[in-house]
Amino acid sequence: MKIVKVADYEEMSRVAAELLAEQVKQKPDSVLGLATGGTPVRMYQELVELHQKEGIDFSEVKTFNLDEYYGLDKNNEQSYAYYMWDNLFSHINIKEENTHIPNGKAKDISTECASYERAIREAGGVDLQILGIGANGHIGFNEPDDNFEAVTHLVELEESTIEANARFFESIEEVPTKAISMGIKTILNAEKIILLANGESKAKALQEMISGKITPEVPASILQLHKDLTIVIDQEAGSCL
Ligand code: F6R
Repeated sequence: MKIVKVADYEEMSRVAAELLAEQVKQKPDSVLGLATGGTPVRMYQELVELHQKEGIDFSEVKTFNLDEYYGLDKNNEQSYAYYMWDNLFSHINIKEENTHIPNGKAKDISTECASYERAIREAGGVDLQILGIGANGHIGFNEPDDNFEAVTHLVELEESTIEANARFFESIEEVPTKAISMGIKTILNAEKIILLANGESKAKALQEMISGKITPEVPASILQLHKDLTIVIDQEAGSCL
């Protein structure tokens, strides 16, 4: 595990965008695993700038997002599909058919999850996975005590996750209580992983993830076993290390 300590959110975002851009330069048909939430917003802005200024080419890139809220249509402004188009896809030259996000409105969830897994496999697997981390140690929406062996599945969100994500909704009642998420096993299959964290709310989870024991109570702790993990953290997030 490589730990890159940076000063603040700005630097974390710049470093992460440069790592992503480098991946795409080295392998123009890269398969990228992408995250949503507050953490990567600025990284996506930096990546758009790199595309505009340096001509980073996304025409052959494929993407798979970690998760989507269950019950939200892709046109809903709170959906992760909407987030991805708003923050990244609309501003770069990626082909729509190369972008993948679980369908939160799928009628048959197990078929949706199985076909998401199949699509990742058929694309050749994820070359580089971007992750954030929940204050409760979740990655994707794999909440504490979820199974390490799980692949893409429907998850029940923890009360603490619903509370943390309420800031993106008008009221807490609007936050979906379930999501479709890549499983821990899906995430671990990525060739490389970059986990980003900023702010003191993530400090305890990071400490447990990096130096605690590997346990489903801290889903991110399983990343200790990944062969190519880079963690980019700002001072506040790294304050307990
Ligand atoms: C997002 C995701 C989540 C977030 C995590 C942190 O696609 O899978 O694991 O990365 O909840 O969220 P923020 O960045 O909003 O603190």
